[in-house]
Amino acid sequence: MDTVTPVEPLDEQALCRLDEIPDGGATAVDAMLADGVESVILLRHGEQVDGYLNVCPHAGRRLDYAPGKFLLKNGTLICAVHGATFNRTDGLCVAGPCRGEHLSPVAVRVQGSAIHLADDA
Ligand code: FES
Repeated sequence: MDTVTPVEPLDEQALCRLDEIPDGGATAVDAMLADGVESVILLRHGEQVDGYLNVCPHAGRRLDYAPGKFLLKNGTLICAVHGATFNRTDGLCVAGPCRGEHLSPVAVRVQGSAIHLADDA
C-alpha cells in the first residue's frame, strides 16, 4: 500500500510552499507590496530563498521567458529579453546591457514549509 504524505495547506499570508521550487530553481509569484501587487522572483538554494522584483533594470521588462520560468546558469539568473545576467545572491548585473545595476530585492523568509514576505518587505 502506498503511503501518501499529506500536503500542508498554505496559510493566507504565504507566497508559496518551499517544495514548489526545486532546489537551485526559481519561480515567480504575485505578492502584495507597498506599491500594490507585483511579480516577485523567488530563487531557492537549499532552505534559503532570495526574492527580487520581477523587473529588469535594463528596460523594465519581466525576466522570465514564460510565467515563472527563468534562465538559470552557474549561479546566475539571465533576463530572457536581452540577456542581462544577474548574481542570484545579490542581484548584481554582472554582464549584459545593464552591467553594474541591481535587481530590486524583496525580503522574504522561510517559515516551516512556506515562504512569506518578511515583515520589512
Ligand atoms: S529587459 Fe532585461 S536585459 Fe533588457
